Amino acid sequence: MIPKSFIQDLLNRLDIVDVIERYVPLKKAGTNFVACCPFHTEKSPSFTVSQSKQFYHCFGCGAHGTAIGFVMEHTGMGFVEAIEDLAKGIGLAVPQEASNITQVKVAPDLYDLMQSATRYYRDQLKVTPRAIEYLKKRGLSGEVAARFGIGYSPDDWQNLRAAVSNYQDASLVETGLVIEGEGGKRYDRFRDRIMFPIVNVKGQIIGFGGRVLDKGEPKYLNSPETTLFEKGHELYGLYQAQKAIRAQQRVIVVEGYMDVVALAQNGVEYAVATLGTATTPFHVQKLLRLCEQVVFCFDGDKPGQKAAWRALENALPQLQDGKRLCFLFLPEEHDPDTYIREYGRDAFEHEVENSLPLSGYLLRELTVQVDLKTQEGRSALLKNAQPLLTAITAPTTALLLRKEIAALAGVTQAELEALWSIKPVAAPQRTFTAVPRVKRGAPSSMRLLLRCLVMQPDLARELPAEGLGEGTESAAIVALVDWLRESANETTSAALIQHFQGTIHAPIFVAAQGDVMQWAENFDVRAEFVGMLKKLRLDAIEAEMSALLVKGLNMSIEERELHARLQAEKNQLKAAIN
Ligand code: UTP
Ligand code: MN
Repeated sequence: MIPKSFIQDLLNRLDIVDVIERYVPLKKAGTNFVACCPFHTEKSPSFTVSQSKQFYHCFGCGAHGTAIGFVMEHTGMGFVEAIEDLAKGIGLAVPQEASNITQVKVAPDLYDLMQSATRYYRDQLKVTPRAIEYLKKRGLSGEVAARFGIGYSPDDWQNLRAAVSNYQDASLVETGLVIEGEGGKRYDRFRDRIMFPIVNVKGQIIGFGGRVLDKGEPKYLNSPETTLFEKGHELYGLYQAQKAIRAQQRVIVVEGYMDVVALAQNGVEYAVATLGTATTPFHVQKLLRLCEQVVFCFDGDKPGQKAAWRALENALPQLQDGKRLCFLFLPEEHDPDTYIREYGRDAFEHEVENSLPLSGYLLRELTVQVDLKTQEGRSALLKNAQPLLTAITAPTTALLLRKEIAALAGVTQAELEALWSIKPVAAPQRTFTAVPRVKRGAPSSMRLLLRCLVMQPDLARELPAEGLGEGTESAAIVALVDWLRESANETTSAALIQHFQGTIHAPIFVAAQGDVMQWAENFDVRAEFVGMLKKLRLDAIEAEMSALLVKGLNMSIEERELHARLQAEKNQLKAAIN
């Protein structure tokens, strides 16, 4: 775990405007900065960044967050990764002892070596007609080849001598580009292959895939796992596809390098490939952060079917209500590359539109294995479904699938849950779905109070312990007070967003933060807050007084006295407010 104090410290030292400007050009507009929103398609800018408040807010799509949130959303990096990236940018070290993932320190020259190799392979492609012919035969234009940095490694043992200053450098082995054999003899891993550089979301080259031109084994040779390259975390083509994925709110996951490249060649630019490994939960999580729909499109053959099922299994724990995962099964003789080249983009996208939702695929596979007409079959269904359904944490998805499986097996949902010894699906504590828009109306006192609190969260320490009432706004304020109780330090608006991101309270805070976006820098938040407290107290007094008045003549002497005291306090407050 990264300590909370470090996250706050980091947010204090960063400037969100600098961070966002690295990815999106911003224009000054009044006290804020604006741009066309990078998270949805729009013509006039509604994406607003507040430098003083250190958060961004899109009035169009509701995207909202801090510098950390922006980097995660925009690049698909995970929380820890984003923090490390941002910290590095301003020369801060992420506290070591507190981090539970192993910190990989990568000497920057490994990246340089990869870059040099890529340049060299690209240059070699230009002078190798046989390799150019091969790519042409596979339907690729020079443009697309350049976009993916495709190159060629010549048929020699030590090609890279020409690309680096010292072929004996130990780091060359560390990159996986060079292999050291018996007796220390060195040679290139990739020889006589079409080279596909693997690029991470930051644009750094971290590995290669190399394809033979003719027949030969293995068909594809890949970089080994190195300090730069972890296969279960990376997706081929993600760097090039990011923009299209966000624009389409959809990503297609395929099996092969050539599938990604061929799809891009034919106008489907939002495809990525796993790297000769199964789809991992990490992959799914990364993609779901970028868009609404993930479509798995594996080859039509047996291994493709198996890969699809593995992807389903690994996706279950990552499912989020409201986000869609689908499976597209191509005819057996096709992969995405051959399919799109034969039938074209429209036909392919038509198939994507009609792909099978995860739930449909899951139910189909579970039911074909058994005979539901027999008791044995229904019992087997329940047994087979158990590990799959219990892996799902998205409440609505879990609920609907439990109902369906229960119905198919002829039991009730409660019986199914009892059988599996699992808790009934309950309302979520923390949800990670897209932030729902909060209805706009005349702002309530609570809403007005919240605006002050998101500007200066520490003011919540001064709230009365009682009388906050019920409702979503009040619940959010109570949660805020609880959070502040845990930390003695002063806190900020940005730290608040970061803390409540993904919780049930997030939409409430987001709405309030959107409201204050246009507040002037010198707005007296404390005065507003004090005024709001008075109004709240007034509301409480009035409620109490009317409760007493209902009793009318039945009021006791004490109650009459209380009513008089309340009346006096009310008069005072009213005078103070006016
Ligand atoms: P495929 O065998 O389906 O190849 O492997 P492909 O993508 O259709 O390639 P082309 O069209 O024949 O050029 C799919 C993916 O599995 C990995 C690679 O990542 C490949 O893109 N693979 C395959 C290997 O790593 N090594 C191999 O020998 C074969
Ligand atoms: Mn293929």
